[in-house]
Amino acid sequence: MPAYGVPEHGNPITTTGAGVPAPSDEQSLSVGRDGPLVLHDAYLIEKMAQFNRERVPERVVHAKGTGAYGVFRVTNDVTAYTCADLFQPGRETPMLARFSTVAGEQGSPDTWRDPRGFALKFYTRQGNYDLVGNNTPIFFMRDPQKFQDFIRSQKRDPRTGLRDHTMQWDYWSLSPESAHMVTWLMGDRGIPRSYRHMNGYGSHTYMWVNAEGRRVWIKYHIHTDQGIDFLTQDEGDRLAGADADCHRRDLYDAIERGDYPSWTLKVQVMPLEDAENYRFNPFDLTKVWPHGDYPLIEVGRMTLDRIPEDFFIHVEQAAFEPNNLVPGVGPSPDKMLLSRLFSYSDTHRYRIGVNYNELPPNRPEVPVRSYAKDGRMRSFKPNTGAVYHPNSFGGPDTAVQEGTEHAWWTVEAGDLVRAAYTDHREDDDFVQARTMINDVLDDAARDRLVSNVAGHMSKITDDGVLNRAIAYWHNIDAEIGDRIADRVGVKQPV
Ligand code: NDP
Ligand code: HEM
Repeated sequence: MPAYGVPEHGNPITTTGAGVPAPSDEQSLSVGRDGPLVLHDAYLIEKMAQFNRERVPERVVHAKGTGAYGVFRVTNDVTAYTCADLFQPGRETPMLARFSTVAGEQGSPDTWRDPRGFALKFYTRQGNYDLVGNNTPIFFMRDPQKFQDFIRSQKRDPRTGLRDHTMQWDYWSLSPESAHMVTWLMGDRGIPRSYRHMNGYGSHTYMWVNAEGRRVWIKYHIHTDQGIDFLTQDEGDRLAGADADCHRRDLYDAIERGDYPSWTLKVQVMPLEDAENYRFNPFDLTKVWPHGDYPLIEVGRMTLDRIPEDFFIHVEQAAFEPNNLVPGVGPSPDKMLLSRLFSYSDTHRYRIGVNYNELPPNRPEVPVRSYAKDGRMRSFKPNTGAVYHPNSFGGPDTAVQEGTEHAWWTVEAGDLVRAAYTDHREDDDFVQARTMINDVLDDAARDRLVSNVAGHMSKITDDGVLNRAIAYWHNIDAEIGDRIADRVGVKQPV
């Protein structure tokens, strides 16, 4: 008889979740050799019950992705603009990155044409800072009322269960502010060669505040050090069948072989007082700030060098939230951003549970002193002495640092309105898409754009939507509109 805990096969002994030696992973407990199973085979019940609960809901968007840990190193002095600890000279901050597609489900191919999520979590000395961006500097809309409708138009038709190009173009062509992003998406960058070969952008305008309390507007650009590279539509289509997980695999393989991918973080800085009269509304998420107006300033470099030891724990349960801002970084009047500050923690509470911040990828590296308590799966007690505030037992107090409050100008109290942004003098839904086509793309990239759009639009099944989509391209650029109309066989643009 072997000693307790040391079976004859020499391997460590399997246990139940409670650590009790498990009876068998091969045979269930039955009444006689061929008889019925009994309910008191608690180990069998535990295995079945755990299995039934293995999945948490997938993310409502950005469900398919992958992630890795790394470090962010500051390479430049930007203390004139921000006092955030992670951006101080010489600082090294551990971090987690998750890259994703947007509309596809967990098992969907990595190479479908789609924007890519670019979510970063920095475990700073001031708590977690999350920069939850995309691989696009812009987005499809500028008001959060439109987000849910937009996403439904890109996901599956509830009747057929199919992705539906008619729905997609119906939404886009009825929402002219999408033109810049759709042009971007239909171009080369709409299918990156891998997650390593794409840029990230904060996309929104954020505020930085320096130690003197001086505030500026900024935009984040996270440039790949591997170089931008893309897949053609044909390559993407082929890989969707041949290796649907190719981007997940690429990141894993690169880090495993020690070829650590890196990105250089840069910012555009706009003085607060420029905003009011800038030629574009600087808080409109469908617009960039041209580089010529606000050049890029280097901040630091992030390098991904560690694959998480367990995908579910560290990637599926990672909970990024744009509201995780640290002193020195704040939001702006971008309405999309302001709504996102609510949305993410709400979805985490639903998807993972109220104590999601205690899980390994979300737990800050600084002590948490919060009066929040209890709830499902709570595993540590409030670090506050008493569970209420104020108290006489040395519990923590809040301390807003003078001058670092992320306020912008005071708006005179007025009527509550549901209104579009104020138009600045060059604001127009099509102008920056037109600039991209004419000033940024070369002839070959323009040809691929026409081919990608025509291929995509050829699956529209409604003539009204098709005509409106052609008109949409005419508004962006008459010649490109004609070429697309020609390719999809629409004779007269409407
Ligand atoms: P610039 O010539 O200074 O910048 C053009 C930028 O376009 C490049 O720096 C590059 O961005 C990006 N780009 C290059 N090829 C593609 C492509 N196939 N698809 C998408 N983006 C591409 O001009 P401006 O700053 O005046 O911007 C002109 C237009 O460029 C804008 O209207 C916008 O459409 C696009 N753009 C501008 C960006 C900005 O923040 N100013 C960022 C990205 C695109 P990167 O350096 O980030 O790789
Ligand atoms: C994921 C909402 C716009 C980037 C999500 C999720 C929700 C959401 C609910 C799922 C989160 C989760 O389950 O973990 C919204 C709303 C938006 C919006 C309401 C606009 C009103 C944007 C924009 C960007 C963005 C503009 C980029 C600039 C991301 C990323 C993820 C994500 C990267 C995946 C995060 C991860 O890897 O876990 N969004 N989103 N979203 N969103 Fe948004």
